[in-house]
Amino acid sequence: MQKLVIKGGTALEGEIPLWGAKNSALPLLAATILCKGETALENCPRLTDVFSACRILTHTGCRCSMNEHTVVVCADAPDTSEIPETLMQEMRSSIVFLGALLGRMGSCQVYYPGGCELGPRPIDLHLDALSRMGAQIERYDGRLECKAPNGLCGCNIHLKFPSVGATENIMLAAVLAKGETVISNAAREPEICDLARFLRKCGALIKGDGESTIRIKGVKELKGCNYRIMPDRIAGITYLSAGAITGGTLKLLGVKNSCMDNVLPVLEQSGCRIDRAGDAIYLRAPKRLKAVSRLRTMPHPGFPTDVQAVIMAVMTVAEGVTVFEENIFECRYRHVDALVQMGAEICVSGRTAVVSGVKKLCGAHVAATDLRSGAALVLAGLAADGITEVRQVYHIDRGYEAIEKILKDVGADIRRISQ
Ligand code: EPZ
Repeated sequence: MQKLVIKGGTALEGEIPLWGAKNSALPLLAATILCKGETALENCPRLTDVFSACRILTHTGCRCSMNEHTVVVCADAPDTSEIPETLMQEMRSSIVFLGALLGRMGSCQVYYPGGCELGPRPIDLHLDALSRMGAQIERYDGRLECKAPNGLCGCNIHLKFPSVGATENIMLAAVLAKGETVISNAAREPEICDLARFLRKCGALIKGDGESTIRIKGVKELKGCNYRIMPDRIAGITYLSAGAITGGTLKLLGVKNSCMDNVLPVLEQSGCRIDRAGDAIYLRAPKRLKAVSRLRTMPHPGFPTDVQAVIMAVMTVAEGVTVFEENIFECRYRHVDALVQMGAEICVSGRTAVVSGVKKLCGAHVAATDLRSGAALVLAGLAADGITEVRQVYHIDRGYEAIEKILKDVGADIRRISQ
C-alpha cells in the first residue's frame, strides 16, 4: 500500500499539463471494439482504470498496446465476448463494454460491476434500453448473459434519468444496429460529445450529442481512426482548486474544449482571478477565499458531482458558509469525516452538507475512500499546517496520473511512500 505525505503551507506556482479525460477514455476504449482496423487514441491518461480497460480489450482478442499517452487497438478479430468477473470488478465503468460487445459480436457475458464507494450503482437503465433494442438478457448469480442472435434493432428510448453510462452504452449498441435509435433525456456531459465525435470519425451517423435527444442511424461497419481524447475537465478543476486553496498562481495547459465553464465561475465567486488565453487557463488566488453560498450537483450542464469533493475542500478554508447539495450519488460525502479530522467545520444531513470556513486546517493521518474524495484530502493537506498523510492512494491513481509529481512541479512538498 502507498501513501502520500504532504507538508502544507506552500502557495503553488507554475504550469500544469492536462491529459485526456478518464471519463472519455474509458467509453472510447470500449468503442474501439466496434471498429475494423486500427484505432489510435492520443492524449490518453496513464491511469489504473485505463490499464484495466486495456486488459479487457486484450481478453476479448483485440490487440491493444499503450505507449506513453497513446493507446493503439486493433479489433479485427475479437474472439470472445465473455469478460471474467475479476476484470469486471477492477472498475465500475466496465459495464460500458456491454453495448460495444453486443453491437459488434451479438453476445456478451459480463458480471454486475462492483458496487462502489459512492453507493449502489444500479444498471437498470442500461439493461432496459438494451432489452428494448432486442437483447435477450438472462441474470444468473451476479452474471449477465446477453444475446442478440438477430442483431440489435434501433428504437426510441427514454431515460428516466440522464445517465452518462446508460447513454454511452446505448450509443455503442446503436451505431451498428438496424435502423434508427432515438435517445430522449440523454446525458449531455462533454464526454458524450467526445464519444460521438470519435464514432462519427469512424463512420457512425450520430446527431444531437450534447443535447437531450440523440439520434443514431445504424451503419454496416465502422473503421478505426486516430483520435485525440478531450482534456480532463475534472482533473483540471482539481488542480485549479489546489491553486485556490493554497493562495497560489497556476497556469493550466491543454485545456482547449475542456468544458469547465460550469465550474470556473464558482472559483471566481470565491475570489480567484481566472483568465483564459488559447489553450491555457490562468488562476490567481486571493489571500483569503470567500464562501459560495449554495452549490447543488446536477447533470450537465449543472454543477458536476465529480468536483463536489474538491470544491468542498476549498470551501473549508473560505470565509463564510457554503451549503452543498449532492443530488447524483447517495454517499458522496465520504471525504467529510477526514476533512473534519483536519479541523474543517462541516455538518452533513442527508444530501446536504453545510461547510463553515475556518482560518486554517491542521495536518492529520487520513485515508482516501474514492478517487475524488482522495483528491480533496490532498488539496486539504496542501493548505493545512503541518504534515498530512493520505493512505489508500490507489483510489486517487484511478483518476489522477502521477498526482504527486504534478503538484511537486508547482512547488508542493509532497511525496509518495510505499508502506
Ligand atoms: C459517470 O458515471 C462517471 N464515470 C462518474 O464519474 C460521474 O460521477 C457520473 O457519470 C455522473 O456524471 C464515468 O464516466 C466512468 P450515471 P455513471 O449513470 O455513468 C443512477 C468519477 O469520479 N443510475 O450518470 O455510473 C446512479 O445510481 C466518476 O470520475 C441508475 O439509477 O453515472 C446515479 O445515482 C464517479 N440506473 C445516477 O444515475 C442506471 O442504470 C448517475 O449515474 C444508471 C445510473
